[in-house]
Amino acid sequence: MSAEENRVYLIDDDREMRNATEQWLELSGFAVRSFGDALSALDHLQDGLDGIVISDIRMPKMDGMTFLSRLKGIDANVPVVLITAHGDVQMAVEAMRQGAYDFIEKPFEPERLLEVVQRACDKFRLVMENRALRRQLSESAGPEQRLLGNSTVMRRLREEIRDLADTDAPVLILGETGTGKEVVARCLHEFGSRRGGRYVAVNCGAIPENMYESELFGHERGSFTGADRQRIGRFEYANGGVLFLDEIGSMPLALQVKVLRALQEREIVRIGNNEPKPLDIRLVCATNKDLNAECEAGRFRHDLYYRINVVELRIPPLRERTEDIPLLFDYFSVQAAAAYKRPEVPLQDAGIGLLMSHEWPGNVRELKNIAERYVLSSLPPQQRLARIFNQPGSVLEQGGRKSLQERMRDHERMLLEQALSRHHGDVQAVMDELDLPRRTLNEKMTRYNLERKKYC
Ligand SMILES: Nc1ncnc2c1ncn2[C@@H]1O[C@H](COP(=O)(O)OP(=O)(O)OP(=O)(O)O)[C@@H](O)[C@H]1O
Ligand SMILES: [Mg+2]
Repeated sequence: MSAEENRVYLIDDDREMRNATEQWLELSGFAVRSFGDALSALDHLQDGLDGIVISDIRMPKMDGMTFLSRLKGIDANVPVVLITAHGDVQMAVEAMRQGAYDFIEKPFEPERLLEVVQRACDKFRLVMENRALRRQLSESAGPEQRLLGNSTVMRRLREEIRDLADTDAPVLILGETGTGKEVVARCLHEFGSRRGGRYVAVNCGAIPENMYESELFGHERGSFTGADRQRIGRFEYANGGVLFLDEIGSMPLALQVKVLRALQEREIVRIGNNEPKPLDIRLVCATNKDLNAECEAGRFRHDLYYRINVVELRIPPLRERTEDIPLLFDYFSVQAAAAYKRPEVPLQDAGIGLLMSHEWPGNVRELKNIAERYVLSSLPPQQRLARIFNQPGSVLEQGGRKSLQERMRDHERMLLEQALSRHHGDVQAVMDELDLPRRTLNEKMTRYNLERKKYC
């Protein structure tokens, strides 16, 4: 790690102390800029901070607590470490309450100082990386800004969206709940040639059956009891733009035939009017049902299925693209921190394992909720996920720094355990699922002390 990446601003009115601390930090690879008082430091830092701050509390002109609150006004996420007098617990507690990252009691061991400063720098680097990521996202207008994920499937999906966006081919989006079907539909509109037109979303599962036809195709005034004014239907309203029929699998059969006719004829007729109106829409549909099975069961028309399913986009569930989880979690927690005006809480290393091993039945929506709860929790960061997942005593709470290799081993062990338990100890099934030769699986089970019969 270069000194450039670890910048430290040091504020202390005691010259000797300041020089000694500065030297210690510099010898340990930190780039230090020191000031004898808080006001001149503030002057220098007015336009933003590119490093962490260590400040004494008792200083003339401006004390460390006031300095802390002024710094938080410049950048709420910059870690500030305060130096308190020996035994001044009250002051330390107050400093933490006001958002100090940590405090060091005088006199301190240089090792203690280095440890705290290194942690603060690590945290700050994560904050900076998140910012860079967000800047990158807002600068590049494209599906990668809306539909995040670096897994191969998500990259391919974004490519398909880009290729399809400018065409009028009907698209059927398939995916479990919360996988991002609505996001994909919006991308097809936003990045396509119809972005100047409307994006009209209809939840086909939420319309009462007797309102269906009027909702989709509109009606003339007086065309039925209660029709006291004219109404434009969703199809007509979407003319020139994109019509998104969400949960299309829930559309009643009687309506399916009318929708099919409208799509085939490219025209619609309002209830109570004989005059067909030309229809010019791009149709996007979504479902989490198996429409083939629905067709077989007679609940969905084959002919409508073929018409809406010219191109199929399938979004895999989150558990099949676990590599996207840390990035999405990061993104949602940073968003939540901004929305709720809370400090950003970078994910603890050990927390990644917990996120990776969860099944995510609610997919990305569930992940987003968990990220919000993580940011809003008042527990120490290393306990938050364990509490949320209701697993006290998990690897998360054991704390401690683990090397990459140790973490990979933890993760591998966890995956093997899960597979063994899923297949009730059937080694052949585990070999098939994980694509492992028998010998490798045996070796790994021995290494991790996993006994087959425990899972039978
Ligand atoms: N790849 C992604 N990148 C960023 N945000 C995502 C992504 N996928 C989903 N989301 C977010 O997750 C939430 C759920 O997504 P969305 O509503 O599109 O899911 P869905 O598949 O339509 O779910 P449902 O079947 O329940 O209607 C939304 O807040 C959405 O913004
Ligand atoms: Mg949806």
